[in-house]
Amino acid sequence: MKRRLRYGTTAKAFHWLIVALLLIQYPIGWLMPDLHRGMKPGAGMTFHISFGFSILIVIVLRFLWRLTHPVAPESTLPPWQRLGSELVHWMLYILVLATTLTGWLFASFRGWSVSYFYLFPLPMLASDNAAAGKAIDGLHQAAEWTLLVFIGLHVLAALAHLFVYRDRVIQRMLPE
Ligand code: HEM
Ligand code: HEM
Repeated sequence: MKRRLRYGTTAKAFHWLIVALLLIQYPIGWLMPDLHRGMKPGAGMTFHISFGFSILIVIVLRFLWRLTHPVAPESTLPPWQRLGSELVHWMLYILVLATTLTGWLFASFRGWSVSYFYLFPLPMLASDNAAAGKAIDGLHQAAEWTLLVFIGLHVLAALAHLFVYRDRVIQRMLPE
């Protein structure tokens, strides 16, 4: 498939929607009450899981959009930066997916039933399973922190293009 030279409005909208959702999701994750054995999900967890589901749906749609509308890296970039940015972008997709799926599994193994923003019940991936829950305990946190490291690299690279290289890479993701 021929690669376009720039991101279209849909790709940009998806990008900034995920940024906005993650900006809400991390604080909810950190601020919601810690888990205890036998605990049922309260409002914080219901919102965390609801936003998490929204992130899962948007990242899947966005990835399908990327596959059907590929964009070439900025042509002025040296090869190591093209390769590096492609790698980091792939990792960001994979890690968002891993973070949402491990969270969903964790909630499922607890045997919870949770609603999507108190509107309708969300499907769970498995039934109550304490042993499986123990086995994957910590994976969601590992995924969420690794994602944060790659977001940090991505944002640092964006800042380097803005202030050090002073090229037009940032403009590629901004409204025209
Ligand atoms: C990209 C999306 C997500 C991010 C960034 C995220 C982030 C977080 C954070 C920061 C915490 C607090 C853990 C800590 O103290 O370090 C957390 C906990 C939790 N999240 Fe998520 N989450 C996401 C998606 C989900 C989804 C989709 C679900 C369930 C369907 C979920 C279920 C949980 C559960 C059950 C906990 C408490 C258990 C634990 O600490 O591992 N999360 N999440
Ligand atoms: C202030 C924060 C951010 C800025 C300034 C920013 C900026 C950019 C820019 C300029 C590009 C285009 C790069 C290029 O043309 O090679 C891009 C692409 C991308 N960004 Fe961000 N970004 C930010 C946050 C995030 C976050 C939090 C994520 C988390 C998932 C993310 C995921 C991606 C992905 C996956 C791409 C590649 C798009 C594709 O080709 O499919 N960005 N970003």
